[in-house]
Amino acid sequence: MMSVAERRFLFGLASKYYSGEGLIIDAGIFLGASTRCFGEGLRESQHLAGAVTKWRRPIVSFERGIVTPTMPAFFKRNGLSFTAVPGESFVDLVRDNVRPVADLVDLRIGDIQETGKIEQPIEILFLDVLKLPEINKFVVENYYSQLVPGRSIVIQQDYLYDLLPYVKTYQEYFSEYFTYIGEIGSTAAFLCTKQIPQEATLGIEDGLDGNEQLRLASVALQRSIDPARRFLMALSKVRLIRKLQGAKAAQAYLQFVKSDYPTETEADSSARVREALRGAEIACRAKQSSTTPEVAAA
Ligand SMILES: C[S@@+](CC[C@H](N)C(=O)[O-])C[C@H]1O[C@@H](n2cnc3c(N)ncnc32)[C@H](O)[C@@H]1O
Repeated sequence: MMSVAERRFLFGLASKYYSGEGLIIDAGIFLGASTRCFGEGLRESQHLAGAVTKWRRPIVSFERGIVTPTMPAFFKRNGLSFTAVPGESFVDLVRDNVRPVADLVDLRIGDIQETGKIEQPIEILFLDVLKLPEINKFVVENYYSQLVPGRSIVIQQDYLYDLLPYVKTYQEYFSEYFTYIGEIGSTAAFLCTKQIPQEATLGIEDGLDGNEQLRLASVALQRSIDPARRFLMALSKVRLIRKLQGAKAAQAYLQFVKSDYPTETEADSSARVREALRGAEIACRAKQSSTTPEVAAA
C-alpha cells in the first residue's frame, strides 16, 4: 500500500537516522512492506550490532492478520495469487514477506490492544493502525510516554487525508511535546522534543471539548504545504463537525470549504480528491449511526 517515497523514507530512517536508543515500532504492517523497509535499512545501519545487543530484535511489528471486506479486491487488483475471504487469516503471507528480516523483528500477531505491551524506550513509532478511536487511545496511553525527547520520531500514516479526525486531534493535543518535521503523501512526521509524562496521556477525551477538538483540527489542517492535502484535511474537519454539531453545521462548513478551495472542487481534480469530496457530502447527509465512515474505512 505504501508509495516508493514512503518506503525510501522508512529505509532511510532505519539505515541513517536510527541510533539504537530505543525500539522501532511498526504498527499495522498489513503484508509487511514497512517492516521489510525498516529491517533492510537496519541491516545497513552502523548501529545494527549495538541495537541487536541491546534489544535482540529492535523492530516490533504488529498485525492482526485477518482479511477485512476490502482486502480481497486489493489482492486481486495487485495481482496477488493469494485469495481469502473476509474473516480468514493472511498471517502466513505476512510471515513469508517478513522472513528476510525475521531475525531483527519481534512479530506480534493479534489485536495490538492485547499484544501491544512495550516497556522499552521507543525511537521510531510508525502508525498505520489507528483505525478506531480506542486503538488511538491505546497507542497514546501506552507509547507516548516512552518516546525519547530530541530523538524519537512519530510517523502518522493516516494524517493528511479526509478520514480519522481523532488521529489528528490527539496528535495536535500533544503539540507542545513535538515539532512537525514534514510530510510524504498522507504521512506526517513529528519529532518528540520534550518528555511526555504518563499522566498527560490518560483521560484526554475528558479535557477535549468540542471547541477544542475543532481548534486542533484547524491546527492540523495547516500542516501540509500542499493545497490538495489541506483540502482533504478540511474534509476531515467536516466529518468532525458532523459528529460534534450535526448535519446542518457540517453542510454549512462544507460549503465554506468548497468556496475556499475552488481548484480542488473542479471536475478535473484528482480521483482521490473527488472521492473524498463525495464521501464528505454523503457523510453530511447520512443519519448518524454506530458505523461511522471512519470505521467503514478501516
Ligand atoms: C492500512 S493497513 C497497513 C498498510 C501498511 N502500512 C502498508 O502500507 O502496507 C492497516 C493494517 O492494520 C491492521 N490492523 C487493524 N486493526 C488492528 C489491530 N487492532 N491490531 C493489529 N493490527 C490491526 C490491519 O489488519 C491492516 O493490515
